[in-house]
Amino acid sequence: MRYALISDIHANIPALEAVLRDIDARGDADAIHHLGDLVGYAPWPNEVVEMLRDRGIHGVAGNYDSTVATDYKHCGCRYEDPRQEELSHLSYAWTRAHVSPDTKGFLGTLPFRIDLRPAGGHVAGPTVTLLHGNQVLNTVYVTADRSNDFLSTMGNAVSARPGDVVAFGHTHKPWHRVVDGVHFVNTGSVGRPKDGDWRAGYVALSVQSGGVIVDFRRVEYDVERAADAILESPLPHEFASYLRSGGTSLAAV
Ligand SMILES: [Fe+2]
Repeated sequence: MRYALISDIHANIPALEAVLRDIDARGDADAIHHLGDLVGYAPWPNEVVEMLRDRGIHGVAGNYDSTVATDYKHCGCRYEDPRQEELSHLSYAWTRAHVSPDTKGFLGTLPFRIDLRPAGGHVAGPTVTLLHGNQVLNTVYVTADRSNDFLSTMGNAVSARPGDVVAFGHTHKPWHRVVDGVHFVNTGSVGRPKDGDWRAGYVALSVQSGGVIVDFRRVEYDVERAADAILESPLPHEFASYLRSGGTSLAAV
């Protein structure tokens, strides 16, 4: 099975459109799944949800999705200074005010975790587990500097065995590491990368009898369309330069 894994779209419809176009043009994905954070930070939350639903793309709940759906007091996002905190709250308030009842209801139905069985569940074979943060909370950041022990604990907690894949997003920075034979894959971000590369990111994951292949892909998209829409909206203007710079114009928001 060959999967396209898309995460952290964050209401950026031009980025999502470009990624889906790329996946369609390559024609090498048997299934597309998302890893959550469909909304927040950009002005197209309803359009992103509608496009995923139209395409039948299933996935898990990110922290932004579950907090919006449950009217939580904040988005579960990390901030490192008062300005970031302010921007985070502005984005969350705007998103909560602009998701349709239908979108909000849909976000509330997203599962926390999905287990895929590429060889079918009737025979022993690899499992691909999809999460947003980690296996306990969708707000936990599984960054590339996490220790092997941390990842080993994570793998054991989802009953992963050698040859399995544990995929997650949330940090907006893609990486891949094998610990105890288990592939840990951070799928990066479609609509809000933070690794200095403004292009939309996704992962092509191939799980065959010969093993696992992880291909990180980047796709150019109309970032100016996204930036202009942010500037024309009441969302913080800083979010436009954030997209253009691949997340380097502001620290982690
Ligand atoms: Fe996110």
